[in-house]
Amino acid sequence: MIENIPQLITYDEPSLDAAFATLAAEVRNETSAQHDAETFRLHWLGRKQGRLKLVSDAWLKSAPPEARKPLGIRFNQLKQQIEAALAGGSNKPAASATIAGLDFSLPGTVRAPGIQHPLLKTMNEIVAVFHNLGYSTALGPQVESDFYNFEALNFPPNHPARDTQDTLVLADQQSKPSRERLLMRTHTSPVQIRSMIAQAPPVRIVVPGKVHRNDAADATHSPVFHQVEGLAVDTNITFSDLKGTLDHAMKALFGSAVKTRFFPSFFPFTEPSADVQISCIFCAGKGCRKCKQSGWIELLGCGMVDPAVFASVTEARRKINPADDAYNPEKISGFAFGMGVERIAMIQHGISDIGHFYSGDMRFLEQFA
Ligand code: PHE
Repeated sequence: MIENIPQLITYDEPSLDAAFATLAAEVRNETSAQHDAETFRLHWLGRKQGRLKLVSDAWLKSAPPEARKPLGIRFNQLKQQIEAALAGGSNKPAASATIAGLDFSLPGTVRAPGIQHPLLKTMNEIVAVFHNLGYSTALGPQVESDFYNFEALNFPPNHPARDTQDTLVLADQQSKPSRERLLMRTHTSPVQIRSMIAQAPPVRIVVPGKVHRNDAADATHSPVFHQVEGLAVDTNITFSDLKGTLDHAMKALFGSAVKTRFFPSFFPFTEPSADVQISCIFCAGKGCRKCKQSGWIELLGCGMVDPAVFASVTEARRKINPADDAYNPEKISGFAFGMGVERIAMIQHGISDIGHFYSGDMRFLEQFA
């Protein structure tokens, strides 16, 4: 066997490195070939004919004194490599468990399962409340036309009501008629129009989605944010239905102790319109910094669908069926509401800066795992 040991002609370090590299490669090849461990052990560590013994005989004994140390260091490294290979398993895979320095018995790298982003979680919670009431989800495009985003919702061209929603418009639209010009939708309300044009009453839809406004980012504003819209149209839908539905939804989201109150407000597409406030969940209505000592937090807009909206819908439906009368306000009525998802998630979790939702900071996100 001794002839199997590579010959060592000089004892300088590059020669030593090359000689030991050959042996280390042999060890690796054998471990990956999955010899049984005892054969492997005898082959390398056998007292009389083991290769380590032969190496020691051939190289160490005849080494000049100054070569003993570099030789010894490499010899020990090789021995450790062999022992590590053996430690990988008793009879099996000689330590195929440690092929090329990989120890498969060590715990692996754990990849955390993904979680819902806190915003999506809140959005899905809101949607689920309405699914439970029999609403279905409707979606619409984020690049929307002026007609759906404004005109059909009773915001006439150049009307000052448009100033409340500072709009991001697409470039090069001037040559088109006003109602065909494209913009980034400023709210989810255009999906009301799309849904009513597509389907006759009864309508019960909930519309989650992304909306865009030319607002400067600060602790409570972001130019891109999320809303959930709702629309119910049927015979005999009243303001009491709206109040009852939203009171239920707020209790489902914030707890049954929460109270709601409705304040007169204005939206071009609802009449009457209201802002909905909930009793402050931080101080139970006593007055604190979060509710500016008022005991109430303003949360969403709502109202009864304005007959002018039904008129735009009817006009569009009559282009398909001239006799269409499905949205005759003498026969049907409806309510609509819209809420900001960020605002609700911030109140639910006590988050003071909207920017956290978009930062991708794992220290923030992991808190919702
Ligand atoms: N679209 C309105 C907004 O973004 C909210 C709203 C929706 C109000 C539905 C009333 C009815 O401000």
